[in-house]
Amino acid sequence: MLAAIAAITTVTAQNATLRYMPFGDSITEIICWRSKLWNKLQTTEWAKVDFVGSGKGENNCRDTKYDYNNEGHSGFLAINIANQKQLVGWLQKNPADVITMHLGTNDIVQQNKNIADITAAFTTLVQQMRDHNPRIKIVVAQIIPLGMGNYNSKVQQLNAAIPGWAAQQNKTESPIWVVDQYTGYSGTSDNRDGVHPNDSGDTKMMNIWYPALVKAFEAARADKQQLF
Ligand SMILES: *[C@@H]1O[C@H](CO)[C@@H](O)[C@H](O)[C@H]1NC(C)=O
Ligand SMILES: *[C@@H]1O[C@H](CO)[C@@H](O)[C@H](O)[C@H]1NC(C)=O
Repeated sequence: MLAAIAAITTVTAQNATLRYMPFGDSITEIICWRSKLWNKLQTTEWAKVDFVGSGKGENNCRDTKYDYNNEGHSGFLAINIANQKQLVGWLQKNPADVITMHLGTNDIVQQNKNIADITAAFTTLVQQMRDHNPRIKIVVAQIIPLGMGNYNSKVQQLNAAIPGWAAQQNKTESPIWVVDQYTGYSGTSDNRDGVHPNDSGDTKMMNIWYPALVKAFEAARADKQQLF
């Protein structure tokens, strides 16, 4: 009897849907890498992963099938999202097991913020994610270059700071994986407007997110199977 109940519980847990929040600014909102990623996942064991977030637009990706939900907010700074505790409310409305974060572009382009202040905001955001879900799996991007203005040396400084910052914040039950969205990406020919990916940029971004997300999904699924 007990064994039967345990077996049923395990099956239910294995079938529990994983919730993935794409989180960031316009490079997470008004782009099509989410559509490409969702379509790639449909061919894998991760087809049922639920994309979550308040964003609902199809976003001119000529794809009416994909799961539009995301927490990309055009024009937002990491520093402001952290200080205003906006992510806290977003996660309350749409809980997540796995999250990707691509942020810092607006901190640099709009307000030339200090790198240390941006990584401090990242620390606050990670804390807010873990307050929401102590076992959340986190993928953080070293961000894509720009094809306008003179921002890329600052982008490179931020990107250089991210691996060390992430290693300090890493936790066994809530790992952070860093992905490099900068190397091999052209700010001019992979962006449609110097900032936002076009089709080739979307494909590159999706291909960089994908293997790290699979690791995150595997870790999140292992948690659910252990019934924490
Ligand atoms: C964090 O730990 C995981 C293992 O749990 C490891 O795969 C990952 O590379 C680590 N991240 C960093 C930034 O060191
Ligand atoms: C991407 O946009 C850039 C700049 O507008 C252009 O040079 C490039 O040909 C575009 N590539 C694709 C695949 O759309």
